[in-house]
Amino acid sequence: MIVTIDGPAGAGKSSIAKRVAQRLGFEFLDTGALYRAVTLGAIRAQIDFQDVDALVQYAKQVNLRWDGQRVFLNGDDVSDEIRSPTVTDAIRFVADVPEVRHQLSRLQREIAVGRDIVTEGRDQGSEVFPRAECKIFLTASAQERARRRQKQLADAGRPMQIEQILRAQERRDEEDRSRPVGALRPADDARVIQSDGMTSEQVLEDALRIVEEVRRRDERHAPRQPADTNSTGGDS
Ligand code: C5P
Repeated sequence: MIVTIDGPAGAGKSSIAKRVAQRLGFEFLDTGALYRAVTLGAIRAQIDFQDVDALVQYAKQVNLRWDGQRVFLNGDDVSDEIRSPTVTDAIRFVADVPEVRHQLSRLQREIAVGRDIVTEGRDQGSEVFPRAECKIFLTASAQERARRRQKQLADAGRPMQIEQILRAQERRDEEDRSRPVGALRPADDARVIQSDGMTSEQVLEDALRIVEEVRRRDERHAPRQPADTNSTGGDS
């Protein structure tokens, strides 16, 4: 079974997706980490971000591996380095290129094949896994997301003005929504969780309830098992 969780930056997708996967005993895939790793690789290889052909060539030959928790670039664990502002600021050059998205979508499908998995990103329900059994779109207002981010930063000893956070967030939202391929949007059949005013526990329970509803619905629609021929009452 595939569960997709999409939504804008700062909606808390990663932590919820991880926890949903844990509770269900599913694998977890952070697709943002793959975009980040390719971006870091392109920076390291000193590729000119305006040179789309070079970016595409790079994305085709780079060796990316996801082990369920961490991401490896040409064998190197880059899970921490990909979170740097330098990488975040440059991602759009990579994520905007349709052929790069094509490569990464293919990798995402390879990782998910035959697995019970929760995948998290922007385009998982709409483009990468259009036939996923369960699609969730997790969102929150810009103000609420910025407040949460501000608290996270303060807790990490990096206080920042809310206006500054809002500005950066608006820029990322706009980039994510306006991309010609793989834009951030809920799939038509996604269930939306609008998480303003909810605790992360409540969001988690909501997401698990949605998965459970989908499972029950699918069980009801599953073809019936053939009648047990050993049971009593069979006309032999
Ligand atoms: O989820 P995260 O914030 O780590 O994603 C980083 C960036 O990667 C996003 O802002 C978006 O531009 C890009 N991304 C994407 N498609 C995905 C996941 C992430 O374009 N499925």
